[in-house]
Amino acid sequence: KNNWDGLIETYKTWLPVSNKTPIITLKEGATPLIEVKSISNRIGNGVKVFVKYDGLNPTGSFKDRGMTMAISKAKEAGCEAVICASTGNTSASAAAYASKGGMKSFVIIPDGYVAQGKLAQALVYGAEVLAIKGNFDKALDIVRELSDKYPITLVNSVNPYRLQGQKTAAFEIIENLGNAPDWLCIPMGNAGNISAYWMGFQEFFHAGKSKRLPRMMGFQASGSAPLVEGKSINNPETIATAIRIGNPVNKEKAILAKESSNGRFSSVSDSEIINAYKILGREEGIFCEPASAASVAGLLKIKEDVPKNSTIVCVLTGNGLKDPDCAIKNNDSIFHTGVEAEINSITKIMGF
Ligand code: F0G
Repeated sequence: KNNWDGLIETYKTWLPVSNKTPIITLKEGATPLIEVKSISNRIGNGVKVFVKYDGLNPTGSFKDRGMTMAISKAKEAGCEAVICASTGNTSASAAAYASKGGMKSFVIIPDGYVAQGKLAQALVYGAEVLAIKGNFDKALDIVRELSDKYPITLVNSVNPYRLQGQKTAAFEIIENLGNAPDWLCIPMGNAGNISAYWMGFQEFFHAGKSKRLPRMMGFQASGSAPLVEGKSINNPETIATAIRIGNPVNKEKAILAKESSNGRFSSVSDSEIINAYKILGREEGIFCEPASAASVAGLLKIKEDVPKNSTIVCVLTGNGLKDPDCAIKNNDSIFHTGVEAEINSITKIMGF
């Protein structure tokens, strides 16, 4: 759209904002819903698969939907500084929106486990970055305690405005399809996003804007699957560092979303994640980060259970550019280095 003003302006009647709320926006939202035939074809039976490419938000992840709300409400409350724990995307988004809103940001991240692009963003957007010797779960404990004791606003998904903003992705999907999908496939880390989508789908359904509610299908990496295993994981591990989380703070909400939608939680291995990641790149021209590919990997894993002729949306939560190291290590392309800058050597390689 030419005149897109961001998601708060677009959906303000559905959001807890008033005329007094200063809207801090980078024009997030309105991301494309793209049909992915390479995935539909692998399932067959007339199934249509789409991806909601939320990696095309201003800082490259779905976090911007929640952050425009959290930062606008923090500004409205007169707050001057925000803090978050993060596996990378939340910190990038918090830093960007805090800067736009004239606030200071502090981000606490697990040292050595944040993809390079995300770290670069937090630094460029002017956050003060503290990389701790501990994982995301530890970082979240710390920021929760800090924000209780000191005058600083927590912008992790325990902040209810985050989920309010994120629910708008479900609105956009319903507007694009003219209905809710049969299934929504989504990666889960701290489990805020699945809870937000479920809220959005319910609100539009009850307002008569869709004729059904989707089944909520949540996927975790197998080395980091507390919701699938039904217990906290002390040392979560996965190539998908964005969802390397052992004790999801929104677990009750996510379980409720699963149960009330007749949904399902399952896990996918790192190699299944990378397989889906490569298919999207090579066959669809879509570059997402590994955590995002978990939604497609999960769908492919349970493809036998997909009903005939159904419509499925997989959420691609983050942009592939976030994690260049993973991309360079995990692809099937041919990369010639040290090639002579000379036409004959090049045509020889190209096979002419
Ligand atoms: N996908 C990506 C790319 C993410 O960055 C995250 C979470 C998720 C999926 C999972 O979403 O936590 O709502 O279930 N990233 C957080 C962060 C933890 O700090 O950036 P969730």
